[in-house]
Amino acid sequence: MPITYSPFNESLWKDPWPTYKSMRESDPVYYIEEFDAWALSRFEDIWQVSLDKTRFTATQGTSPEALLLDPNSPPKTFLFMDPPHHRKHRNMIGDRYTPAAVGTLEEEIRATTRRALAPYLTTGSLNVNALVSSVALQTIADYIGLEMDEITYIRSLIDTYYTREAGHKGTTASGMRAFEEAAAFIHQLIGKYRDQPPAQNSHIYTWLNSAIDDAQMTDDEIFFSIFALVITGSDTLPLTVAATLYYLSLNEADMQAVRDNNALIPNAFAEAARIDQPTNILGRVLSEDVEMHGKTMKKGQPVLFLYASANRDEREFENPEQFQLHRKSRRSLSFGAGQHFCLGQHLARLEGKVILEELFSQLGDFEVHRDQSKRIFGEFLQGYCYLPISFKPLP
Ligand code: HEM
Repeated sequence: MPITYSPFNESLWKDPWPTYKSMRESDPVYYIEEFDAWALSRFEDIWQVSLDKTRFTATQGTSPEALLLDPNSPPKTFLFMDPPHHRKHRNMIGDRYTPAAVGTLEEEIRATTRRALAPYLTTGSLNVNALVSSVALQTIADYIGLEMDEITYIRSLIDTYYTREAGHKGTTASGMRAFEEAAAFIHQLIGKYRDQPPAQNSHIYTWLNSAIDDAQMTDDEIFFSIFALVITGSDTLPLTVAATLYYLSLNEADMQAVRDNNALIPNAFAEAARIDQPTNILGRVLSEDVEMHGKTMKKGQPVLFLYASANRDEREFENPEQFQLHRKSRRSLSFGAGQHFCLGQHLARLEGKVILEELFSQLGDFEVHRDQSKRIFGEFLQGYCYLPISFKPLP
């Protein structure tokens, strides 16, 4: 049967796996006629393209919407830069994300988690995504230099910006209004932080006070850097922690093994990020013609990386459709690869580990309500966006 694939096909959002499998098997370099673009679905292909520093550019955006629907150039931030600018801009804040720097935050993240968890302990139930989101927001707010009420407001606008409507491709009119409101609000904050500088180790302080090649960052560049860090710092962690509990709950022995031995948590988290990768699709634009599997992709055409498909590629992973708690993966695309690999990967792993440790130690035997869970409705991210659990409340 011929494959028909579009990232905006709503019927795929709930269960993309059979289509991804067919694409990997019979059409790994898939031409999307409607957008004159390509979709790569195999692990090795996306891995190689991610390592290619010259023939693919991020300067025209990386999300499916930016690549396929939006003719405007994306804002200037390192996420949408190529070498050598990319490295210089990323390095402005990169030293705060090294394993050593992140490691110093463990107790702070644990204290944040305990504060977030406390109000639920007497109620007997919670939504995993809401809990993790509040920890992720507090953590990235401290990195950026924002107050909690400021980041919570920005996050609520981002949620509207991401809300998709059936039958409409990409951002809705109310989503666009939310984006404009976020832009106006963040511009106002930048003005405030020029007068009352935030902590010296915060990103805002760095962005306001450093120059690259003698050029200061403009307010617009600082705005979008803040916006992008709020998104990347808080979108994917709740999905991955929810996926970890969802997949562990499928097998009582797995759940018990992790309960008995918390040292297994990092592997459970990594396996959840593999089997249900939240960054479903990102991509680049070709800066040269490239041939792959007998097809010629032309300069200027967008190329989508179907990350979530790659992480279930049977050429890379044995029994990829199975959640295997003890899996030892040789490579992973869960955090990308090459120059744009995830800046926050060590932070995300630490946050995931601490939050899961706290859930196991504080809630006792909790039940995961998979039947009430919900998956995201949209083209860019995927996974469980609502996962309730219940437990015996404290008296
Ligand atoms: C489990 C959680 C996470 C997952 C699965 C994840 C995944 C990814 C992936 C796949 C990319 C590559 C994007 C591309 O190909 O263009 C990426 C990039 C990025 N991630 Fe994450 N991420 C996570 C958490 C975080 C956190 C907590 C932060 C906090 C700062 C973060 C910040 C970033 C940034 C800034 C980039 C862009 C890097 C660049 O363009 O140089 N991520 N992430």
